[in-house]
Parts: sequence; C-alpha cells; structure tokens
Amino acid sequence: MNLYKDLSPSPRTIMTPGPVEVDPRVLRAMSYPILGQFDPEFTGLMNETMGMLREVFMTGNQWAYPVDGTSRSGIEAVLVSLIEPGDAVLVPVYGRFGHLLAEIAKRCGAEVITLEKEWGSVFAPEEIISGIRAHRPAIVAMVHGETSTGRLQPLDGIGAACREQDALFVVDAVATIGGVKVATDEWQIDAVMGGTQKCLSVPAGLAPVTYNDRAEAKLLKRKVIERGLLTAEEAAGRMNGAMPVPAFPIQSNYLDLSQLQDYWGPARLNHHTEATSMLYALREGLRLVLEEGLERRFARHRLQEAALVAGIEAMGLRLFGDPAHKMPVVACIEIPGGVDGESVRAMLLSEFGIEIASSFGALKGRIWRIGTMGYSCSKRNVLLALGALEAVLLRHGAKVDAGAGLQAAMDVYAIGR
Ligand SMILES: Cc1ncc(COP(=O)(O)O)c(C=O)c1O
Repeated sequence: MNLYKDLSPSPRTIMTPGPVEVDPRVLRAMSYPILGQFDPEFTGLMNETMGMLREVFMTGNQWAYPVDGTSRSGIEAVLVSLIEPGDAVLVPVYGRFGHLLAEIAKRCGAEVITLEKEWGSVFAPEEIISGIRAHRPAIVAMVHGETSTGRLQPLDGIGAACREQDALFVVDAVATIGGVKVATDEWQIDAVMGGTQKCLSVPAGLAPVTYNDRAEAKLLKRKVIERGLLTAEEAAGRMNGAMPVPAFPIQSNYLDLSQLQDYWGPARLNHHTEATSMLYALREGLRLVLEEGLERRFARHRLQEAALVAGIEAMGLRLFGDPAHKMPVVACIEIPGGVDGESVRAMLLSEFGIEIASSFGALKGRIWRIGTMGYSCSKRNVLLALGALEAVLLRHGAKVDAGAGLQAAMDVYAIGR
C-alpha cells in the first residue's frame, strides 16, 4: 500500500495578485460542522452573506450572492445569462482579462466588438463613451482592475452612457472588490463580478456577483426552470404552451442566474448543493472587511502600496505602466536587463518562502508583479518582500542601491503612521 505523508504545506508569504494569504479567522470558519442546505440556520447565513455583499459592493441591489466556482464562474454566469446570441457586446481591452471577457462573450454567441489599448495604459472614459455611441451595443463589459498589467480603469460616466443607449454595463471587479472602491450604484453598473481569493482574502472557490433590476429583467426573459422542479400544473402548462419556453434560453444550467436567484431568494428552489464550508469562509471574510470598514481598508491598501513603491524605486528598479492609473493593490516591476526573472522568483520562494508573480502574454518575462491584497497587505510582508528582493537581486548580479529600499519604505511608514 502506498502511504502518503500528512498534508503539511510550507509557511509562505504570498505577495502575488492572488491567491493571497487567508486570515486565520476565515480558516477557522471553514473547519466548522456542515449544516444542511435548507436548514434555517444555514439559509440564515446565506441571507447574512447577501446583506454583507451588498455593503461591500456598495449597492442597494436585491441580488448579491456568490456563484460556486472561481471568479471566472461569476464572469461566465453573468455573461451567459445576459448575452443572447447575436447581441452586440463592446469590450474595451487593456490586458489579459479584457481578452477573457471578449472570449467568453464570443462563446455565448455575441457579436463582439473590441477596443484595444496598449498594455500598461487604460482608456480615457470618453474613448469608451464614444465607442458606445458609435456601436450601440446591448452590453458593455470591461475590467476594473487589470491584474495582468497592474492598471485601474476609471469607470465614471460609462454607466450613464450605457443607460443613454439602453445598454447593460458589466464590470469585472475580481481584483478590486474589498481593496479598492467599487461603487456599483454610484457608477451605474448593472452587473459586477467579484473574486474571493484577492482583496477579500478568502480561498478561491466562490465568485460573488451583484446585479440590478435592469439586468434581472433581461435574464428573466430567458428563464427556464428545470423540468424536474416543475409542479404538475407547471409541467402541464409547459406541455400545452401556456408557459412558453423563451426563444433564447440561458445556455448553461449551472451558471444560470435566473435559477440561482430562486435558490438564493425566498423561493429556495433547489439548484446545486451550496458549498457550505466556502460559504462560511466568505461570510467570515466579509465580516472582517466590514469590521475594518471599507474606507479604512482602502486606506490600508494605499499605505502599503506607497511603502512598497517607495522601496522599489529607491532600490533603483523601474515600475512598469502608466503611473497615473496604477492599481493600488498590484505593483508591476520591469525585470532589469540581464537578470533571469524566473530564477529571481524561484530564489525568493526557496530561500525566503516569498512568492511573487510573473505576468502573461507579451509581458511574460518582462515584469514581476507584487500584490498587496487583503491579509497579505501588511507592513511586515512589504518589508520582508523588499529586503528579500534586494538580497536575491544582489545574488543575481543586478545593480541595486543596497539598503535604500527598506529605508525608503520605513520612511513612508514613519510619516503615514
Ligand atoms: C481581473 C481578473 N479577472 C478574472 C480573473 C479570473 O479569476 P479566477 O482565476 O478566480 O477564475 C482574475 C484572476 O486572476 C483576475 O485577476
């Protein structure tokens, strides 16, 4: 018999743009006993989680709940539920995850129109607004915080332009929710997809989404209830045409928001089996966010960003991308000429237990990405990462201003305290 060793993951300092370290309170919540999915105690926890999500998404929307699966499941659920085959979908792309939105929209049968910006920059909102007026799409889908390039897209005015043209505005806030302001109602966003494993500091496995009445109206037109859940009268109604099936039913069952909302709402119509331990984790993660307070949490992320950036620049390294639109929770660093970026990352992990990320596509091998998100976003982690990076770069023969990085970061903390 093959005897496998006890599971014993090494302690790590995770400074990537996700997944990041998880608060011990969240890990503890995940170890509690399972409740049945229709136990009133459990449905009470589901309702509380929805209430907390509304606060974090800054919305009065009725619908704010998690889809089971990683953040991509939330993205797919929103797009597959809202896009009818043939719908024009406008996707402004400024990095990998914009391309992902376009790809998923295409798979849903959309006529996708993309606007593209060089990676490292963002769109002026007016550019997107003129695109909306020119193309008159049914849906505009875009990324708020593009982790592949570390840029934050300003969203003001885009929601209003969508309403003018009767388009729905859909935003991927996977990497910003819980770390950077995501003002769903103020910015007139019709559907937002969040992520758990980044600024919320919960393991990957759920994807919180929220959407308003405008979005709900569209997905309800496409609603079909599973045959096996229909009452005898409803089934007869479907057979005799009294309950007609829509022209374009939502193509996915698992990711069908019209059915999911019946599971999360008062009807409690059975859909999938809720991922109990993940729900405990999300509830605790949200409780931590609200205990800290959104404004204080955003300020903590900005302070750690300032210290990290000061340290990187004082060391003599260059930041990648347009500084005016840097994401406060991700720093992209140009890999100095002659330095093997992957060897630096490997040494950081093996010698210091610190993980930083590379990037994708055209930026692979050109930049490192350091995340300061959620529980990982701490003074201790920033100082450790700067000290370790300096030591590893010196080992790789890179020219760095030894000692300057940590001192610059400590100066930021001395002023910002
Ligand atoms: C901006 C953005 N969108 C979407 C995703 C996809 O999320 P997941 O890997 O959780 O499915 C990520 C993950 O890194 C992301 O950063």
